This record gives sequence, structure tokens and C-alpha cells, in this order.
Amino acid sequence: MNLTPKEIVSYLDKYIIGQKSAKKAIAIALRTRYRRMCLSGELQKEITPKNILMIGSTGVGKTEISRRLAKMMSVPFVKVEASKYTEVGFVGRDVESMIRDLVAASIAMVRSEKEEQNRDKIENYVVNKIVEKLVSPLPFGASEEKKEAYLKLLKSMEEKVISGEMDDKIIEIEVQKLQVEFNDSNLPPEMAKVQESFSRIFSQINKEDNKKNVSVKDAKSILKLEASSKLLDMANIQAEALKRAEDGGIVFLDEIDKIAVSQKSQGRNDPSKEGVQRDLLPIVEGSSVTTKYGVINTDHILFIAAGAFHLTKPSDLIPELQGRFPLRVELESLTEETLYQILTQTKNSLLSQYQALLSVEGMELVFEDEAIKAMAKLAHKANETTEDIGARRLHTVLEKVLEEISFDADEYSGEKYIITSELVHKKLDLVVENNDLSRYIL
Ligand SMILES: Nc1ncnc2c1ncn2[C@@H]1O[C@H](COP(=O)(O)OP(=O)(O)OP(=O)(O)O)[C@@H](O)[C@H]1O
Ligand SMILES: [Mg+2]
Repeated sequence: MNLTPKEIVSYLDKYIIGQKSAKKAIAIALRTRYRRMCLSGELQKEITPKNILMIGSTGVGKTEISRRLAKMMSVPFVKVEASKYTEVGFVGRDVESMIRDLVAASIAMVRSEKEEQNRDKIENYVVNKIVEKLVSPLPFGASEEKKEAYLKLLKSMEEKVISGEMDDKIIEIEVQKLQVEFNDSNLPPEMAKVQESFSRIFSQINKEDNKKNVSVKDAKSILKLEASSKLLDMANIQAEALKRAEDGGIVFLDEIDKIAVSQKSQGRNDPSKEGVQRDLLPIVEGSSVTTKYGVINTDHILFIAAGAFHLTKPSDLIPELQGRFPLRVELESLTEETLYQILTQTKNSLLSQYQALLSVEGMELVFEDEAIKAMAKLAHKANETTEDIGARRLHTVLEKVLEEISFDADEYSGEKYIITSELVHKKLDLVVENNDLSRYIL
């Protein structure tokens, strides 16, 4: 994770238009963690991350930023919705489980890295196991000649298994009852341990039933799992994962506005919202959370919270929590120009998605530039006159424009279909002009 802030921003730029200050704040926060890791031990302990609060109305790219970050990150990362948690003592997920999720993500990450490093070993194990099943063993006391022939046979079988020639053959393998992973981080670790021992006992009892007939192809993936848990040092992986989550983990806390309690409507609100906020305090500030892999300290975990704050304001969060998110960034509302850019300049933009979908029917969809401009304009207008739902409006607008073509696509197979601005206006003008209509349709 040693991308410079500029590199991070330019990566995000490919998918998200505008929102410079949010991108910048996040890029700096990420780089700061890298810088911190380069410092001496003592200073390293002192420097805690500055958590970020992203504020911006709906559909302007908050969640999108986090999604893209998650893809890019080589550090443990989880995205969670604040509204999903309940206060300790109530039925539901308690906030500590987000840290357990983070550890689980970290373990998956470290594990797949180790698998990659040991790919040859794992592959060997898998192939050997399968060959064993396909070739019956050499009888005891066979002659030298026989042995030689046998080795040759093994070799050629190995090649066949690797090349996939044997994929359809059925073999019998012992399926280790997958040490059923209880990754349900909802459970407190003590419970998870109990469940694990149960699953271990049951898998012992069921040993007899564990023989299964499967195709070589399926056997490959089943055995791969077995190989990686046999060959890799799980304790080592867990320790490293825990450390990584502790030093570099990021929790993206979406929909944080949903747990704020507005001053005006107090009394009608769910009291447990404030409870969730209070439960969050120690975690955000730094405390120890017990997971089934060990205790993790949350001091250096970075929290990025995001919310639309339509009905509530950041100041409706309890003061202690506000104080724990010192960096505030606002995301701008989308203008007509930004909407146009979102349609034309983002990687895998909506337009290209529709083009790809309809190309399956053999038709080529072409958008005239004027038509795209018209859609951006009308989407913006609809956002202004009814609710501002940001870029999501583009989805409804495009759906409306392409509705008929999508339905009749098979008739246009092999043809080129051009979306003109006339067509866009024909489909949308009436709807956008009429407020009542657009409330329903767009
Ligand atoms: N600035 C932007 N650039 C490119 N695409 C965007 C931008 N803003 C929003 N979008 C697109 O709009 C859709 C909704 O955006 P997103 O999920 O990020 O909204 P949000 O800000 O999280 O809203 P909410 O507060 O309702 O959760 C996504 O498909 C996203 O790709
Ligand atoms: Mg969102």
C-alpha cells in the first residue's frame, strides 16, 4: 500500500467525477498510515489516525468511493452500514462485530496471499491426490520393469489431470467435513468456540459418510481447500492478519446519519440509536475487541463515516462521537456538467453497460453526443424540480429512454440503433415538465 496521494486520487478519478475534497482527504489519510509505518516504534504508537466524516446528499458518490477503495486496497477493509447495528443487550449485531468482520477480511486476504505464494505446493498436493485415485497402486514386489512402467503411467496421468483431460472422470474422495467456518461474526468469540468444537465432533462422527463421488474437476477445488488448510500455517496466518488489521485496517461506516437522533423529533426516535452511537465511542477511540483469533486493539484502525444527513445533521450525533471524526469533507451536488461526465467519462459507465447488454442481442447501440447532453440536462432538471437523488437519476432517465428498445431488441439484431436527442426529448419532455408525472416515473 504505497500509492502516493496523487496516485490514489487519479485511480478514483477513473470512476468518480468531481468530489475532489473527499478524494483528497481520503488519499491523505491513507498515505499517512503508510508514513506512520515507516517511523520508529515509539512515535508509531503515538500517531493515531484522523477519522473522516463524508457528508453529501444522496447519490453523489459516497458509497461509490468506498466501493472503489475496497477494490484498490491492499489493506484489510470492510464496509458496513451503521443502521444495521443494535445496542449491546438488544437482539442484533453489536458494533464490535464490525471489528470481527475486519479481522475476517484480513484473514481472507493474508490467506489468499499465502496460497498464491505456495501455489505450486498446493497444486502438487491436489494432483497427487487425484492421481492416487485414478491409478491403482503397484502390487508389492513388482519387478523393476513394472516399476518403471508404473512411474511412466503416473507421469502421464499427472499431465492429463493438469491439462483437464480427466475432468469428467468420477472419483471417490474423502471430503473432510469442511471445518465448518463459523464466520458469523455476530457471535461473541466464546460462543463461536463452542460451535466450532461441536462441528469438529460432528465431523468425527460423520467420518464414514464423508466419502463422496465427484468429478475430477470438482475434486480439484475441494482438494485445494483441503491442501491450503493442511499446508499453510493457519496460526501464523491468523497472527499476521490480526496485526495487519490492527495497524492498517479501515472500516467504512456508511449511513451514519441513520443513527443520529434529530433534536426536533426527539421522543419519537428509536432510543437504541443513541445506544449504538455510545457503543461506537470506545471502538472508534481505541479499545480492545476480542475475536476468536485473538484480541485486537482498535487504536490505529481508520474509520471513514459517510452519510447524507437529509433528516439529521452531523451535530445531531452525540458530541463525543462528532469529536472522534475530526476531518469533515463535503461532497458537492451534481451539476448538469458532472452528470454528463458521469455518463461519458467514467470507466464502465452506464452507457457502456447498456451497450454491452444490448450487444448480446446483436444490436449496436449508439448515443449521439447531443442525446447524452439532453439526458444530463433533463436528469438535472428532474433533480431540481423533485427530489435531488444525484446520479441515481441517470438510471431512471436511461431506463425510460431505452425502455422500448430494450423490449424490442431482438428485432434489431444485426442493426445499429442510434439514440438521438429528438428521441430523448420525445421520451422525457412530457414527463419532466409535469412534476406529478416525474415524481412517479423518474
Ligand atoms: N461523482 C460521481 N461520479 C460517478 N458516478 C457517481 C457519482 N456520484 C454517484 N455516482 C453513481 O451514482 C450511483 C449512486 O451513488 P452512491 O451509491 O455513491 O450514492 P451515495 O452518495 O452513497 O448515496 P446515499 O446517501 O443514498 O447512500 C452509483 O451507481 C454511482 O456510480
Ligand atoms: Mg450510500
